[in-house]
Amino acid sequence: QATSIPADRVPDMGKRELMNLLLLGAISLPTAGMLVPYASFFVPTGTGGAGGGTVAKDAVGNDVIAEEWLKTHGPGDRTLTQGLKGDPTYLVVEKDRTLATYGINAVCTHLGCVVPFNAAENKFICPCHGSQYNDQGRVVRGPAPLSLALAHADVDDGKVVFVPWVETDFRTGDAPWWS
Ligand code: FES
Repeated sequence: QATSIPADRVPDMGKRELMNLLLLGAISLPTAGMLVPYASFFVPTGTGGAGGGTVAKDAVGNDVIAEEWLKTHGPGDRTLTQGLKGDPTYLVVEKDRTLATYGINAVCTHLGCVVPFNAAENKFICPCHGSQYNDQGRVVRGPAPLSLALAHADVDDGKVVFVPWVETDFRTGDAPWWS
């Protein structure tokens, strides 16, 4: 599959480096095509207040209303929303039909591809180099070195609000590598 870096998915990559990559033609067509379904997540983030939090946006850019979301997303569902800093972030519906209190950042910790959820296998499987993460985003197969980043998913005034996760990673017991 594609071996080049989808530059606009690599965290912390500067604009200049990005331009250099573009000039070098490092972004292959297959990679670009792969990102098309996620294009809506590159729309600049419209942040909502809530003390450092960001209101989650759905695929068409509307605020995510928790109650409405749960009407259309059943137990076990993991669907992408736009999260902190515009990062594609999964909202998780627990088995008891409540919204999980965490969201999972979809950016692969290997080279930054957006990782889809495979419902049949109940895992996140990266299309770029095959890394796998369990249904909570904990890495279970490399080359990804780290688990997917977390964000708190709170409900404020009916809306889902992502707040930076600075506490221990509950999946590994480690300090959060992303904060
Ligand atoms: Fe390489 Fe995900 S970017 S496995």
